[in-house]
Amino acid sequence: MDNAPKKVFVKTYGCQMNVYDSERMRDVLAPLGYAETVTPEEADLIILNTCHIREKAAEKVYSELGKIRRMKRVRAEQGAEMLIAVAGCVAQAEGEEIVRRAPAVDLVFGPQTYHRLPQLLARRRAAGRAVVETEFPAEDKFEGLDAKALPRKGVAAFLTVQEGCDKFCSFCVVPYTRGSEFSRPIEQVLTEARRMAAQGVKEVTLLGQNVNAYHGLDARGLSIGLAGLVGELSRIEGIERLRYTTSHPRDMTEDLIAAHAENPRLMPYLHLPVQSGSDSILKAMNRGHTADSYLRVIERVRSAKPDMAISGDFIVGFPGETDRDFESTLSLVRDVGYASAFSFKYSPRPGTPAAESDRQVPDGEMSARLHELQTLIHAQQTAFNAAMVGRTVPVLLEKPGRDPGQLVGRSPYLQSVHVQADPTLIGTIVDTHITGVGTNSLSGHYARAV
Ligand code: 5AD
Ligand code: SF4
Repeated sequence: MDNAPKKVFVKTYGCQMNVYDSERMRDVLAPLGYAETVTPEEADLIILNTCHIREKAAEKVYSELGKIRRMKRVRAEQGAEMLIAVAGCVAQAEGEEIVRRAPAVDLVFGPQTYHRLPQLLARRRAAGRAVVETEFPAEDKFEGLDAKALPRKGVAAFLTVQEGCDKFCSFCVVPYTRGSEFSRPIEQVLTEARRMAAQGVKEVTLLGQNVNAYHGLDARGLSIGLAGLVGELSRIEGIERLRYTTSHPRDMTEDLIAAHAENPRLMPYLHLPVQSGSDSILKAMNRGHTADSYLRVIERVRSAKPDMAISGDFIVGFPGETDRDFESTLSLVRDVGYASAFSFKYSPRPGTPAAESDRQVPDGEMSARLHELQTLIHAQQTAFNAAMVGRTVPVLLEKPGRDPGQLVGRSPYLQSVHVQADPTLIGTIVDTHITGVGTNSLSGHYARAV
């Protein structure tokens, strides 16, 4: 294999798991001589790590590929080669179609095959034409990656512990692009977390499409849930804070809820998508829960941990959604009182059952509902942030801010906090007196180290 110094440019779309995957792609490429560049024009390899969850994601990728093809041509005129790779969920969903529509593409591979990047590059070289790999290999992707892990930069890091989904919500493409549900063995997760801690990581966010369905095997072959994993991780010296995302209401177990009450390292923030507040829509979505059962979960969580910040995801305009259904969603939002929430217009995903429905909601209707929902959520978010003013909260300082002498960190509730403090404090948790609130962040004065 050719190990001469080369440059790779990675563009990441979509969720936090893609951010994690992109890091791991850099890990496997480093031994081949690839260093990262932020300038695509000078790259020997460009990777688009794509997302397929909503909107015209595939179209965006094709238009980006048009631009990159021109860069590739310029490089060729200079006598240099530029390889183009399409990775991630669009690659998984589109496969060969990508090479047909964008012949300049050299490699297409899905979320479960990127650990094979060195072999894929070698195959591309040997074949002299595009290589497409979109199967779900049986071997453990993570086993192959761990040996090559590069140091993690920064104070906060993502760590994938669970991947894929077997729930098949009728709107969602994830079970098709990421494959069936899989949990990493507990020891593998602990090893990765220990390595992160040794590199100065203080906060780990555990990732999974259904992270609270985590059921990894321990050394004795026993299955451990997310609460057990969190318990183990919080014993690692240096890891001060733990978070996890994304959870499903059906998998919010008693022991996980109890962990929030008992474990001070587990942060009081829960992202728990509900999608809709209407039972008939929830049924058509195949969510497996009702509005009421969701509200009961929130109640249990709050009685264990009264200051828990709740976040969620919503879809407006799911096929068949009436004004009354939408009213139920607004009513649920009022009942919960969100610290933050994400809302989207329904977007038909090819191959999913809901996309086939003949009861699609007109776009104008969806836009009006989205606007109304977002106004309500925004008001709740603003109220949640404003309530912090005058309080003193522990902030994990992560990096320099925009203004001189300023650092940016996070509150336990995942709010960005701007603090005037010395850069040597990066990586520490300081009690911060909150004095101001902006649209998406707080500001405060450093009170003392925790
Ligand atoms: N259309 C709109 N939003 C979607 N999501 C998932 N699939 C779709 C779709 N087809 C949203 C859900 C999910 C979040 C990650 O993206 O709200 O929780
Ligand atoms: Fe998609 Fe539903 Fe699985 Fe979430 S739980 S990844 S929305 S199918």
